[in-house]
Amino acid sequence: MTMNQPVPHDSSLDNSLTLLKEGYLFIGNRVDRYHSELFEARLLGKKVICMSGAEAAKVFYDPERFQRDGAAPKRVQKSLFGEKAIQTMDGEAHIHRKVLFMSLMTSTHQERLANLVMEQLQSSISKWAEADKIVLFHEVQKILCRVACDWAGVPLKESEVVQRAEDFSAMVDAFGAIGPRHWKGRRARNRAEEWIREVIEDVRSGKLETEKDSALYAIAFHSNLDGSKLNTQLAAVELINVLRPIVAIATFITFTALALKDHQEFKEKLQLGESNDLEMFVQEVRRYYPFGPFLGARARNNFVWKSYEFNKGQLVLLDMYGTNHDSRVWDNPNEFRPERFKDWDEDLFKFIPQGGGDPAKTHRCPGEGITIEVMKKSLDFLVNQIEFEVPNQDLSFNLDRMPTLPKSGFVMSSIRQK
Ligand code: HEM
Repeated sequence: MTMNQPVPHDSSLDNSLTLLKEGYLFIGNRVDRYHSELFEARLLGKKVICMSGAEAAKVFYDPERFQRDGAAPKRVQKSLFGEKAIQTMDGEAHIHRKVLFMSLMTSTHQERLANLVMEQLQSSISKWAEADKIVLFHEVQKILCRVACDWAGVPLKESEVVQRAEDFSAMVDAFGAIGPRHWKGRRARNRAEEWIREVIEDVRSGKLETEKDSALYAIAFHSNLDGSKLNTQLAAVELINVLRPIVAIATFITFTALALKDHQEFKEKLQLGESNDLEMFVQEVRRYYPFGPFLGARARNNFVWKSYEFNKGQLVLLDMYGTNHDSRVWDNPNEFRPERFKDWDEDLFKFIPQGGGDPAKTHRCPGEGITIEVMKKSLDFLVNQIEFEVPNQDLSFNLDRMPTLPKSGFVMSSIRQK
């Protein structure tokens, strides 16, 4: 958009239903239609500014201009994040809480988690080999749930794994939903919070012992800026804020398997097991396939950007999916090409599958290192440690369902150790 052109207004009376219908493409479709990286729409009767692209991401992550307080709808807090969690904080208090999360995501933690995932994958081979077929998404969810709890110091009985894994997934599955899927996510959150509150109480009372470098210990004994501890409920919410997203890596692992099947040309290279090749492949999975659709924030003050007057309190949505497919940044964005990450400039705003900016200073996901390392190990496992067949199945995924996944969950058969 050039200066002084009016910002396009989407002509619909209300876009809420269209948003659900167009899903990941809602913002991008209008950015293309209006030839503008920002436009006004109405959602649930309220004016919302939708923005896309690296420049928009840069302004969205400017703490002088945007804040999170009041941005996340209650329904998302009650299912996905939990109420009053880090996602809703601003300023100094947010940075202080973020230090806690960043301390749990160091390269040592990343490596430990990735190795635990590899061990679990390897020890599943014999069981998978005996089965007629397995659904990768479900198997990996269970593995990640065991690993997340083990790593975090949260006791988990084998008999609980299926229910707990399903609950973590249901919270994520609820984010773009209305009706039963939303309510399922809320029930799952209530159950998980009740469980984790008890774990927090047990570790605080000394009934449960845990390593000092565990996520459970760090969160249970974390001090706020004023020296107080998190109340039990909030400590549970924040611990779930690391357990749930580890389980959610199952979505990216399932898309990784789909990418491998659809792009056999990369197999030979990946068989060498070189870290760089594995990394480029998983980065392209995170860019190409849909997971997070968009993010919300509110204008902190009145300001003008791209000749649009933002008023204090104005709600904005930043298009994550569209930014990762922006043809101004990515050549042939709708082609799967891992080599594009060979000379990647690591720009903090062009590639935002888990948010943008500096994770220590903004709301960008602190778990990207963990996600990438766990995905690399899983890719290496799929390519180099097992052989399998991919029977006929429906591997399509809908861009109008948020979050989405290949419909079959990726069925594998005739699994053998290599
Ligand atoms: C499955 C892959 C993942 C995806 C797609 C993902 C995506 C995201 C996104 C989009 C945000 C919000 C960024 C923003 O608000 O600006 C976020 C925040 C966050 N993520 Fe992740 N994430 C993933 C994995 C993880 C992992 C493995 C962890 C921890 C172990 C984690 C922990 C968090 C936390 C604590 C926040 C809140 C940060 C803040 O508000 O400052 N995520 N993630």
